[in-house]
Amino acid sequence: MTVRSMWCHFVLLLHLSTTISLGAAEISCRNEDGNPIDWFVLYKLPKFTEEESAGLGLEYMYLDSLTHAWRLSKYLINMTQGGLGQTLKQLYETYESKNNSVAYAIYNDEVPHSKAFNWKKGHTKGFLLLDKSQGFWVIHSVPLFPPFLEDGYGYPATGKEYGQTAICVTFKYDQFTEIDQQLLSYNPSIYNCFIPDIFQDHLPNLQKLCARSRLPPVPPRHLSKLQSAHGETFLHFAKSHLFVDDIYVAWVAQELKTHLLVESWQHSGHSLPSNCSLQYHVYNIHTIETPLKSTFNSINDHSKWCVSKSPEDQWTCIGDLNRAAEQAWRSGGFICTQNQNIYKAFRNLVMRYESCNDSSTLR
Ligand SMILES: *[C@@H]1O[C@H](CO)[C@@H](O)[C@H](O)[C@H]1NC(C)=O
Ligand SMILES: *[C@@H]1O[C@H](CO)[C@@H](O)[C@H](O)[C@H]1NC(C)=O
Ligand SMILES: *[C@@H]1O[C@H](CO)[C@@H](O)[C@H](O)[C@H]1NC(C)=O
Ligand SMILES: *[C@@H]1O[C@H](CO)[C@@H](O)[C@H](O)[C@H]1NC(C)=O
Repeated sequence: MTVRSMWCHFVLLLHLSTTISLGAAEISCRNEDGNPIDWFVLYKLPKFTEEESAGLGLEYMYLDSLTHAWRLSKYLINMTQGGLGQTLKQLYETYESKNNSVAYAIYNDEVPHSKAFNWKKGHTKGFLLLDKSQGFWVIHSVPLFPPFLEDGYGYPATGKEYGQTAICVTFKYDQFTEIDQQLLSYNPSIYNCFIPDIFQDHLPNLQKLCARSRLPPVPPRHLSKLQSAHGETFLHFAKSHLFVDDIYVAWVAQELKTHLLVESWQHSGHSLPSNCSLQYHVYNIHTIETPLKSTFNSINDHSKWCVSKSPEDQWTCIGDLNRAAEQAWRSGGFICTQNQNIYKAFRNLVMRYESCNDSSTLR
């Protein structure tokens, strides 16, 4: 071969390999340009903030593995062009193509078009889509979302009023065996799913949950270490209904060895006060201030997340459960990370939190 023909050969190979990697669009979280991304987090703002003019309740802040801080999205959350819409698009397309190489499940304790709550199922909302190479998992707080696959993308009107969070993480296939185990503890209320037989060996629990068949014994709680496709480490806490306690105080704070500031839905009559009884304390956040300087009270927020009080620990967790007495009996969990950008984004939102009474503080 002459140098020239070798060069041509090389260029041809290069060309082929780039077209192949672009052609086979891998299942992945998608950013706001529709491109694959390792992870994203979004925070939909409540309709009523403390400022005079109410928003639409559809605006949201967005952060991903390539941006470093919250940005107000140029899209509204009901639009298909945003990160959530772009990511879900892959699920709606899979449903239409009926591809036997792809597995998916959508779960929510508040199912679209249904007024019934299922108290026996997990207080947990999310969806996942994967093939034998990789996939994504979204954990969010929006009731009645996403729509049934036959209905296509949309955002429920009931999800406008309050703040909501969502996190999407892209995982290689091997991580879904761990996620399958976590979902067993969740006992999620699944309303759309397809787990073809080729996944039977690696997703046995998900397949049974999908088929509504008999489940193996459920551990009271299980902690999993997960790694995203690009190597970001996550810890995942899953508790079943058998672990009857406040997940934040009794497990997450003590396990992570960090004092936590918690944002959760505090509407019920049985919301729990800040708690300094155990070694690591848990404080309820009272007021949020966004980077745009708008503020809102936790009473207008349906999201569920917590951050380390101290920046040295740098934990952020996003998940399913509220600090409410009756949630001790519900299953669900949290995905946690020490990613610095996620931590700064969430920690800087905390404007005011409720301290413990001196008498209840053990130091
Ligand atoms: C999103 O909601 C806004 C405000 O209600 C509405 O004007 C717009 O048509 C909606 N867009 C989509 C794609 O549904
Ligand atoms: C089905 O899914 C597999 C795995 O993601 C993919 O390689 C293949 O192209 C898909 N087939 C169709 C018809 O979409
Ligand atoms: C704090 O939480 C723990 C664990 O749920 C509980 O046992 C304890 O009674 C709580 N303390 C107060 C003062 O509520
Ligand atoms: C502090 O004490 C007041 C009055 O007794 C009580 O209403 C409140 O719930 C307590 N707060 C905490 C965090 O224990």
